[in-house]
Amino acid sequence: MLNKDIEKVFFSEEEIRNRCEDLGKQIDIDYADQPPVLVGLLKGSVPFLAELMKHISINIQIDFMDVTSYSGRRSVGDVKIIKDLDRSIIDENVLIVEDIVDTGKTLSKVKEMLYSKGAKDVKIITLLNKEEGRLVEIKSDYVAFECPNEFVVGYGLDYNQDYRNLPYVGVLKEECYKE
Ligand code: IMP
Repeated sequence: MLNKDIEKVFFSEEEIRNRCEDLGKQIDIDYADQPPVLVGLLKGSVPFLAELMKHISINIQIDFMDVTSYSGRRSVGDVKIIKDLDRSIIDENVLIVEDIVDTGKTLSKVKEMLYSKGAKDVKIITLLNKEEGRLVEIKSDYVAFECPNEFVVGYGLDYNQDYRNLPYVGVLKEECYKE
């Protein structure tokens, strides 16, 4: 069972659902004139995007991109596209959905790429923001939670691809790291 590997829960399923409700209402207001295309970054954003979209009432569309910059607990610096968007975003309002902003390297590259594909406006919504981890200046437009500067797992976030299906965000016990 995954639960036994968790040292501490930071954000519960209910807290996350409540924040998604608030953020969904805010998105309805902010994008009333031109609904956005939600672009989820695979795979970590999937549970957050799935919860968030249920609380948005305007007619949005969704798409996914897969980029990678991490291995284990370390950023490897480079952002590589593994899966590109299916649809055109020319003249669209794009809202990037991310699990966590840490160094900011991934999002600054992705934002740049989306503008170069012709997006009219690109904003960011993230489940977690680790402000202390920032190496590149980038601001999220919507943040569900400010996160302590620790490596977290669950609700889409992984450690070596494991723990994504935990229904909450927490910290692993030290003995679970294989480094
Ligand atoms: P950034 O480019 O450093 O901002 O990295 C963002 C990406 O790194 C996220 O989408 C995650 O995949 C991964 N990441 C950063 N911090 C954590 C963490 O605490 N747990 C799991 N993944 C993380």
